[in-house]
Amino acid sequence: MPASEEIRNMNEVEASAELARLAAALARASSAYHSDDSPEISDAEFDALFERNKEIESIFPHLKRPDSPSDRIGAAASDTFAKVTHSVRMLSLANAFREDDVRNFEETIRRYLKLDDGTPIGYTCEPKIDGLSLSLRYESGRLRQAATRGDGRIGENVTANARTIGDIPDIARRAPEVMEVRGEVYMGHSDFERINARATLEGSRTFANPRNAAAGSLRQLDPDVTRSRPLRFYAYGWGELSEPLGRTQYEALQRLSDMGFATNPLTRLCDGLDDMLAHYSGIEARRATLGYDIDGVVYKVNDLELQRRLGFRTTTPRWAISHKFPAEMAWTRLRAIDIQVGRTGALSPVARLTPVTVGGVVVSNATLHNEDYISGLDACGNPIRDGKDIRVGDWVRIYRAGDVIPKVADVDLGRRPERAKRFDFPTVCPECGSQAVREEGDAVRRCTGGIACPAQAMERLKHFVSRAAFDIEGLGAKQLEMFYRDEVLGIREPADIFTLAQRDAASGGKLRDREGFGERSVRNLFQAIEERRRISLNRLIFSLGIRHVGESASRLLATHYGSWEIFEKRIGSAKAGEGPEWEDLVAVDGVGQVMATSLVAAFSQKMERGSIDRLVKHLDVRDMEPTVNSDSPLAGRTVVFTGTLNGMTRAEAKARAESLGAKVSGSVSARTDLVVAGPGSGSKAGKAHELGVMVIDENAWMELVTKA
Ligand code: IVH
Repeated sequence: MPASEEIRNMNEVEASAELARLAAALARASSAYHSDDSPEISDAEFDALFERNKEIESIFPHLKRPDSPSDRIGAAASDTFAKVTHSVRMLSLANAFREDDVRNFEETIRRYLKLDDGTPIGYTCEPKIDGLSLSLRYESGRLRQAATRGDGRIGENVTANARTIGDIPDIARRAPEVMEVRGEVYMGHSDFERINARATLEGSRTFANPRNAAAGSLRQLDPDVTRSRPLRFYAYGWGELSEPLGRTQYEALQRLSDMGFATNPLTRLCDGLDDMLAHYSGIEARRATLGYDIDGVVYKVNDLELQRRLGFRTTTPRWAISHKFPAEMAWTRLRAIDIQVGRTGALSPVARLTPVTVGGVVVSNATLHNEDYISGLDACGNPIRDGKDIRVGDWVRIYRAGDVIPKVADVDLGRRPERAKRFDFPTVCPECGSQAVREEGDAVRRCTGGIACPAQAMERLKHFVSRAAFDIEGLGAKQLEMFYRDEVLGIREPADIFTLAQRDAASGGKLRDREGFGERSVRNLFQAIEERRRISLNRLIFSLGIRHVGESASRLLATHYGSWEIFEKRIGSAKAGEGPEWEDLVAVDGVGQVMATSLVAAFSQKMERGSIDRLVKHLDVRDMEPTVNSDSPLAGRTVVFTGTLNGMTRAEAKARAESLGAKVSGSVSARTDLVVAGPGSGSKAGKAHELGVMVIDENAWMELVTKA
C-alpha cells in the first residue's frame, strides 16, 4: 500500500505517535551521521523516514512538532572545533523520489512565478555528490576560512584542514572581494579502499563508506592527518558574495571553474522536464563507473533572478530539488523481535536482523511498528505484504525507499522454518510486568505502569534533561542510567536531580571520587543543575513529558495560563470533557481534545501528580512574558491579502510575510492586524474598514517589507 494511503488512514493519536517516533529516530540518526561520522542507518533509510515524517505532517499539519525534523538541517556543530556562524545559512535540499515529484517541482515553480507552459525555464542538472558540504570564505581572493555545515547556521572551523585539499585553491583568481564558495568534500572509491586497507594493516579503525571517510578525515584535529587523506572537492554553489558571479547558475559555475575550482563535469543545462529526466537516467547509468559516490541528481533553476524570486522555505530552496536514485533492498534473516518501551509507555517491536550490507551500510535493525504490522495488517485491519505475518527465523526483505524505512517489505514463505511460530505480542510490559493495553483507536500497545515502570521513568528523565526541556549540561542518558540504579544518589524522578548536591554532601562516598567524575565535572554538574532551578513556564510544561504535549503546545499553554500557579490549579481541577476549566483548555488555539485529555489525565493521576509537585517545590518558575515584537514590525501580526496583486504572486507575498514573522490568514476578523488589498478586493476590505483594521495597497506593502 502506498505510504500516503496508510498515513491517511491514521488517526490523530497514531499520527502524533508516529511523528514522535520519527523525530526521535531522525534526531538520533542525524547526530550519529553528522557528529560521530558513524551512521546508524543508511542515507536511503534516513530519507525515507524524513519523507514519511513530511507526509504525515502534510496530512496532519496541526500535529507538526516544534522539533520537527523537517525544520532541521544536519546536527549541531561539535565542541571539538571552533564554531563559525555562516553569514548566509547553509541549506539542505528537498527530495524527489519519483518522476512525479520532479514534475510537481516544475509545476509548482511555474505556478509560483505565474509562468505558463509556453515559457521555458532552464535548469542545471548536476550529480548530487555524497560527501559533506563545506563553505569556503575568500577575501581579496585569499582563502580565509573553511567551515562545515553544522546545523546550517553554525558550523565548525576546519580551515587548516581544508587548506590541505588539492582541489581547494588558496588563491581564487579574479574573485569578488568577498566570496563564499560552497561545495562537497568527498573521497573517491579507489582512495577509500586504499586508506581502509592501510587502516586494516595498521589495526586502526576502518570507515563504513567513502562519505564517512571524507567526514572523518576532514574533521581531524591534526591537519597533517587530513593531508594524508586523499580528499577531493567539487564546488556547486555560494554563500555571501560582494558581487554576483553571473546571471545564471551555469555561468556562475563556469566562473568558479575559471577561478580554479573543480566543478562537476557531468553538469548540464536542461530546458525542461523531459530533458532533465533524460539526463538523470544518463547519470544513473554511469553511476557505478564514476569512481565516487553520488546519490541522485540536483536540479536548479538556472536563472538567478528567478531563483531570487522563488526564495526559500524554512530549510530548503524552492528553486532546487534533489532527485534521488531508487533505494536498494536486501534479504536477510530475522533473528529476534525485541520490545522497547518508550517514554509514553509505547511497546515498540524492533527487528534484530542478521546484518546485511545495503549500499555500503550495515543494517542490523528495523522497526516493526506495532503488533498489527507484525501480523500483516495495517491500521485499518487491511492486509499488508499480502497479509503475510512476520516470524522470528523468517527471511525478510528489507526495503529502503521513499516509503517507511527500513521496513520489512516481504517475507519469503518458502524459506520459513517449519517450527516458526506466530509472534505473540506481549500483553504485559517486558520492563515492569504491568498490563500493556491497547486503547480503542490506538495502534500501539502501551504499558500501564506509568512512571512506576523503570523504562518509562528512564525515558521521562532523558526527556526531562533534553535540550528543549531542562537542558542540563553534564547530565545525559549515560549519567542518568548510572544514577538511576544508584543506592545513595539515586535519580528516579526529576525532583531527585535537584536534591543531588545535597545528598552528595551528606553521603560518605562522594561523587567526585567515582570513576568518570572528577572534582571539576561534579562542580560543573551541580552548577548546571543549580542554574536550572529558575525555569520558564513553557520549558517546565514541556519537560513533564506528557503525551501529546510538545514544545509548541507547551508554549501555547504557558502563554494562555501565564503562571505555574494558575496552570496547575486550572489543569489540576479540570475534568475531561466538562466544566469551565475543560472548556477553557480546549478553547486554546492549537489544543485539541486528545492533548487536553492527556494533560488532564496526567494531572489527575496520583503518582504522576506527586512527582510533578515534588519537582516544582525545587523550582522558581518564571511567569510567561507577553510576546514582544522582534525586530520586524510584522512579527507576530496577522496579515490578510485580498484582491489582485500585480508585482508578486499570492504565494510569494505569503512567504515574504511569513519570513518576517507574520501570520497570514485567509479571512478578516478582529484579530487581523493588516489587510493588503489589491484591486477587486471587495468584501474583505469592507469588513476591515468596519472593524477598524488597517488597509494598505500593494505599493505600501512593498515599502513596508523592504524596510522590514
Ligand atoms: S545545492 C541551497 N548541489 O546535498 C542548496 N548540494 O541535501 C544547497 N550536495 O548540503 C545545496 N551535491 O551537501 C547542492 N550538486 C549539489 C550537491 C549538493 C551534493 C549536498 C550538499 C547539501 C546536500 C543537500
